[in-house]
Amino acid sequence: MGEIQKIGFFTSGGDAPGMNAAIRAIVKTALHYGIIPIGIHDGFDGMIQGKFQQMNYNDVDNIIHLGGTILGSARSKSFRTPEGRQQAADQLHKKNIDALIVIGGDGSFAGANILFKEHKIPYIGLPGTIDNDLYGTDASIGYDTALNTIVRAVDQIRDTASSHHRIFFVEVMGRNAGFLALNSAIASGAESVLIPETITNIPELAQEIKTQNKGKRSSIIIVAEGDDEGGATEIVEKVRPHLDGYELRTTILGHTQRGGTPSYFDRALATRSGIYAVEQLIQGKSGSMIGIHADEIITVTIEKSIDDSSTPNLNKEFLLKKLLTK
Ligand code: F6P
Repeated sequence: MGEIQKIGFFTSGGDAPGMNAAIRAIVKTALHYGIIPIGIHDGFDGMIQGKFQQMNYNDVDNIIHLGGTILGSARSKSFRTPEGRQQAADQLHKKNIDALIVIGGDGSFAGANILFKEHKIPYIGLPGTIDNDLYGTDASIGYDTALNTIVRAVDQIRDTASSHHRIFFVEVMGRNAGFLALNSAIASGAESVLIPETITNIPELAQEIKTQNKGKRSSIIIVAEGDDEGGATEIVEKVRPHLDGYELRTTILGHTQRGGTPSYFDRALATRSGIYAVEQLIQGKSGSMIGIHADEIITVTIEKSIDDSSTPNLNKEFLLKKLLTK
């Protein structure tokens, strides 16, 4: 690979608080090293359509505190086809973009990886997803902010739940991963938590709720949207016949979890990883994700980061027992 002169970067998949801090860091670091930073709008779709913007210091002024992504994001159908990827590669070549930084989750990394395999465009991944479902990093950009959003919401729900002696089922995001559910349950003092990584047994859950609720004014059950028995609405329908005499309510936090001002942690993580990503490309590296472990910025191969079988153990048995023990 020759010397890098232009780096293209984009946000892709579900947005996450802290993505703007990453964009800012990439632009500033690239300019610092004399590289031209090209922002690609609207993810892989924008790449296919050539939605490129050469960026300067002023373009990233006053964005570090903003949620969402100033570049926009998308889940692209066209990029899943070889023709779409050919168009994307043609656009990148036309603009003389030498390398890419993709800020997104596993699907976005897989996209950049296939583009590399088919068209030899080097890339580095920054984990940008509230789900934290990438192997090899202690946290992904956006995860900490989303956890804080959930905990704040549950605190508020607890107030009204206690006033009315109610049991609330609060649904949080996490199609395939229980990180958000489990850790928000711990931090909000929830009575139970349901995550995709474990099998939910409805009669047992009902019994646990009864035991937990004895002498209490409220109970909070955190439900990951991807639980094997369904989201909070379905769980409530299934558990209701076993909980005669209890008042059950459902709250789905939905996309409130994806927005909002990024926390200190996400801004710092995004900034440190953005700087490192540019430096990795300058050193001729490709195909890795920038992560954080024990406060050290590290790299993991993309294959490993998205490999399902590598999903770290959540230590769920231990944590669940703690949550469920009255
Ligand atoms: O960003 C990941 C995620 O938040 C998942 O937890 C959720 O299922 C999904 O995105 C929803 O995304 P969208 O509504 O953008 O399709």
